[in-house]
Amino acid sequence: MQLLRWSSEIELGFEQIDNQHKQLFNMINELSLACTYGQPNSVMLHLVERLQEYATTHFKAEEDLFSSYDYPDRVDHEADHASFFDSINYMRKQCEIIDTPMAGKIRDFLIDWLWNHIKSKDMKYKKFIDKRRLTGL
Ligand SMILES: [Fe+2]
Ligand SMILES: [Fe+2]
Repeated sequence: MQLLRWSSEIELGFEQIDNQHKQLFNMINELSLACTYGQPNSVMLHLVERLQEYATTHFKAEEDLFSSYDYPDRVDHEADHASFFDSINYMRKQCEIIDTPMAGKIRDFLIDWLWNHIKSKDMKYKKFIDKRRLTGL
């Protein structure tokens, strides 16, 4: 079974954001577990929808930070957030059309996307904000 494990290497040091990332990890792991136990598409769909809702809240919190700190890479970062929903919606539609189990495909995507996004894009804004807080520049 594939599970996401929290690690200090992806800790930003911003309490609200780290807690939201942990919550996203929990939700993806719950989805992964449901997948292992072969839950039907209707159950998976419910979990995916809940996750999309929570991701909306989380992305908004990050994007508010970008505004507060005038983050120069915000357009690129926000495009990445938008592509997350595009990919999930595309996979959901495909599964509905050809009526195949969506679980494994979406799970693999979520695990990869979230880990890589935090490690690259979120870490990048963390460094920028840390520097601004430290130097005031
Ligand atoms: Fe994030
Ligand atoms: Fe992000």
